[in-house]
Amino acid sequence: MAVTTISLEPHELLEEAYEFLTLFYKECSSDRVHLSERWRQARIEIERTGTYTHTYDELAFGARVAWRNSVRCIGRLRWQSLIVRDARTTTTAKGIHSQLVEHLIRATNGGRIRSIITVFQPDSPVTRSGPRIWNDQLVRYAGWRNDDGTAMGDPKNIPLTRAAERLGWHGRRGPFTILPLLIETSHEGCAVLPIPTEAVLEVPISHPEYPWFDALNLRWHAVPAISNMCLRIGGVNYSCAPFNGFYMGDEIASRNFSDLGRYNQVQAVASRMGLDTRTDRSLWRDRAVIELNRAVLHSFDLARVTIADHHSESANFMRFVAKEERAGRTPRADWTWINSVPVPPQVPSFHRTYDPTELNPNFWPGSSAMCPAGKRI
Ligand code: ARG
Repeated sequence: MAVTTISLEPHELLEEAYEFLTLFYKECSSDRVHLSERWRQARIEIERTGTYTHTYDELAFGARVAWRNSVRCIGRLRWQSLIVRDARTTTTAKGIHSQLVEHLIRATNGGRIRSIITVFQPDSPVTRSGPRIWNDQLVRYAGWRNDDGTAMGDPKNIPLTRAAERLGWHGRRGPFTILPLLIETSHEGCAVLPIPTEAVLEVPISHPEYPWFDALNLRWHAVPAISNMCLRIGGVNYSCAPFNGFYMGDEIASRNFSDLGRYNQVQAVASRMGLDTRTDRSLWRDRAVIELNRAVLHSFDLARVTIADHHSESANFMRFVAKEERAGRTPRADWTWINSVPVPPQVPSFHRTYDPTELNPNFWPGSSAMCPAGKRI
């Protein structure tokens, strides 16, 4: 997981920069500087330094449009509400760590979750390489493989847990131990810094009708904050730009708690419900997953922590689609991601198809070295 430096071809950078600035002036009728003047400045900077610097307004617009263009996200109706924190001058692991802690506290907002992105230095010929966060989300539960092959904690995070331990972290072995942040900068290497407990809100999971549910001892964190994707705006790669929305219950219930390679709770719930787990025909898996979904929604509601259910979120997504069409844009989406809900035909977004083309600005997986140019706007 070494820090990688990007080398965007000069013509690619120029092309993407121009396309982005054009879009910015088209959508943000800002009268301070005209496109031609801004483009002249940017070109001079690119010729001199090999990159250019976004203004705050460009950065904020770019980050919001990256969300708008995220074909897998069902929650895009709110793309304009994204709060954009500019942390481009914070370059030490310690400084980045405090920014991340502050991000979590502000995003959590006592349970009324706010969508936030914190943007650090991009990769560029000037900075060499911006920082990286090794954690795929800011809040992650550690995972260990036991000698008998079973797992403790979240099996998905076993590699990250090993990396943290190699770097000197000693976490208490338990099902929900929060991992430290692994922050790498090109001048300091990788630092391991714990997240203060007061920065992480967690919700204990109970069921509205089944008193035995408490004994499963499930809990989950309130804020999903993706921290390993590359935000690409106008040819500039921000590899360290963690962002969060709020959860849709199904993500926690149907995947994190249900997947065999995660907390794997379906069998336990079905048995306690007294379902016949010997035959597929009892639909015991489906029924257990549904009750897990009810438990997650109920518990977040009880704790007054923002959470979406897939029915209202799919309806909101249809409003987003209609709004995009009204704005003269083609709504783009990855149908399989948008409709991976418990009973897909029951949600409105199931009943049509979408153009899956991914535009820039966008969030791309992994470090910037893996950022594809994508289809240009
Ligand atoms: N599915 C991921 C998880 O369960 C979170 C992905 C982002 N989700 C969101 N609602 N913004 O942790």
